Amino acid sequence: MAAPGDVRRVTAPTRRPTVLVVGAGGYFGRQLVEELLSETSARVIAAGRDVARLEQTFCDRLGEGSRLSVTRVDLHDGSTVEAALHGVGVCIGAAGPFQKLPQTLLHAALAREVAYIDLSDDRRFCDVVLARAADAAVPVATGWSVLPALVGVLARRATEAFDVVTSLDLSIAPGNRMPRAHGTVASLLASVGRPIEVWRDGACLTVSGWSEPAPFDYPAPVGRRKGWLVDVPGLDVLGRTFGADRVEFRVGGEIGFLNVLVSALAWPVRWRIVPSWVPCAGLLRCGMALFGRFGTSVGAVGVEASGRRAGHGVRARVTLVAEHDGHRIPVLPAVEMARHLLDGSEPRTGPLPPHDWIGWDDLLVSCERRGYRLNCAEATMVDDG
Ligand SMILES: NC(=O)c1ccc[n+]([C@@H]2O[C@H](COP(=O)([O-])OP(=O)(O)OC[C@H]3O[C@@H](n4cnc5c(N)ncnc54)[C@H](OP(=O)(O)O)[C@@H]3O)[C@@H](O)[C@H]2O)c1
Repeated sequence: MAAPGDVRRVTAPTRRPTVLVVGAGGYFGRQLVEELLSETSARVIAAGRDVARLEQTFCDRLGEGSRLSVTRVDLHDGSTVEAALHGVGVCIGAAGPFQKLPQTLLHAALAREVAYIDLSDDRRFCDVVLARAADAAVPVATGWSVLPALVGVLARRATEAFDVVTSLDLSIAPGNRMPRAHGTVASLLASVGRPIEVWRDGACLTVSGWSEPAPFDYPAPVGRRKGWLVDVPGLDVLGRTFGADRVEFRVGGEIGFLNVLVSALAWPVRWRIVPSWVPCAGLLRCGMALFGRFGTSVGAVGVEASGRRAGHGVRARVTLVAEHDGHRIPVLPAVEMARHLLDGSEPRTGPLPPHDWIGWDDLLVSCERRGYRLNCAEATMVDDG
């Protein structure tokens, strides 16, 4: 399988300025459509299984002269995917949960030489994309959301002064004011109590999902947040890229009670009393919505790196904090990647590397535009003992 660093550089082609968003009626799909319309001059096609619902969702944006149109795509029906890609330069898969989706969008995109982006947070889905895209003639960006694309860039920044990287602790702290939708909640529950993979001692190791809580220190207003291990793509890729012995990812919601409830749900799955809580995603979603009023829209993503510099142990932390609209963070990487693909500033083909797809200054600008704060704590010496 090609690692997403073994990319080939070619002259960037001029891409047709049309972006197809599949799953456009979903929580993140809607945000993608809005940001693509405001951040690019491309035409945007919002695709999903129910066109009438899409027309209702985007009724303010549709109409004569609009850059937005809607079309029907069911990822289980390859002919609808083929038809929707006609005249498209970049496609984005934002449907979910990815655990249940076929690879029809990727197959059709590769056949038609359309640049491909997805927001997958499913490790197996991303692995299949990476394998299939090894010889792709177009750029392929899988997992182009928080994990692994955004944390990859934060990890590169955190470790740039290191001689040796030993560990990367990756973390997100979502706010609860805007409770997540079915796709994200189902995906989260897929990890609860189930075997998941982390990167330890330089290899993939299976542990139990939603276990081993540990705190992460974010800047104010988030502060210290306890997070639990969940299954995500790219830990192995980041481990190999940075030569780290250990890479782990934890998520810690804003309402402590809900975190404790989810970690309690892990036990019946570990004891094999319940196979999985995914069918109960709707119930958990309602619970999160009930507690929404007690939450905020603050969101944060962080990387704490440990390693060695000039013979000493060092530690550095890089964080992105959104004091408002934290729920929009997950679409930033796909929107920025779409911009790069459309303006020809991403000339590579094949799987794109999650740690090296946007310069730090560009990321700063795109965060400032959205009102997000990037913080880089200077690398500090730590006690070698
Ligand atoms: N990598 C990361 O860091 C990261 C971060 C955040 C989210 N995500 C992932 O992004 C995905 C989307 O999340 P979300 O919260 O936006 O989910 P959501 O609100 O439930 O939306 C999912 C959308 O997918 C559509 N869909 C499902 N099956 C489809 C199919 N066969 N063909 C076409 N469309 C289909 C649904 O359409 P219908 O309305 O017709 O059912 C719905 O509009 C989730 O899998 C989530 O885990 C990843």
